[in-house]
Amino acid sequence: MSHVPIYTILGNHEGDSKYYYQYMANPEPEYYYTFTYGNAQFFMIDTDRKVNTGSKQYEWLEEELKKSQATWKFAVHHHPPYSSDESDYGDAYRGPSERGDKSLQPLVKLYEKYGLDICFYGHIHDYERTWPIKDNKVNREEGVIYIQTGGGPAELLKTMYLPDHGLPEKYIVIIIS
Ligand SMILES: [Fe+2]
Repeated sequence: MSHVPIYTILGNHEGDSKYYYQYMANPEPEYYYTFTYGNAQFFMIDTDRKVNTGSKQYEWLEEELKKSQATWKFAVHHHPPYSSDESDYGDAYRGPSERGDKSLQPLVKLYEKYGLDICFYGHIHDYERTWPIKDNKVNREEGVIYIQTGGGPAELLKTMYLPDHGLPEKYIVIIIS
C-alpha cells in the first residue's frame, strides 16, 4: 500500500462514508476526479450522486472530456450503463431487458460524443464486456466498450458468464500500450 498507487471510487454500499475521505487520498473533491497516467486519462465518477444533464458531475465531465488530449480515455464508476444481470436490470441473455442503469444514459451520450474508449464499472458481481456500442448498436469504429469488472471484494454471481480458469476473480488487469 505504501508504494502502489490506488485510485478508488464510491459505490452504493459506502454511503459517502467519512472513512472514504479519511483513508483514501484521491484528487479533490475525491468523490469525482480525473487523473492521467502516461497517455491515458481516467474519469472517476460517483454514480450514487446525480449524473443527469446539468448536474455538477455531468458538467464537469463534459468539460474534462472536451479538453482531454489523452490517447486513451477511460471512465470508472460503480453502476453499469449496460449489463445483462438478471436481478437488477433484466435478463438480457434471455430476451429484452433494461440493459443496465437507465439513469446513466446521459453519461453514455458524453462518452460517445467525446470518444471514450472504455467504461469500467462494478455493482454486478460477474464479468461482462460489450462490443463497441454507439447509439445502442455495435459500432466497431466509433463505439464505446463497456466492461463490468467482476466481484470486487464480494462473491461472484454463479452465472453462465463465469470463466473456469481456476484463477482468482476478484480483480481484472488491464495492460495499456
Ligand atoms: Fe453495488
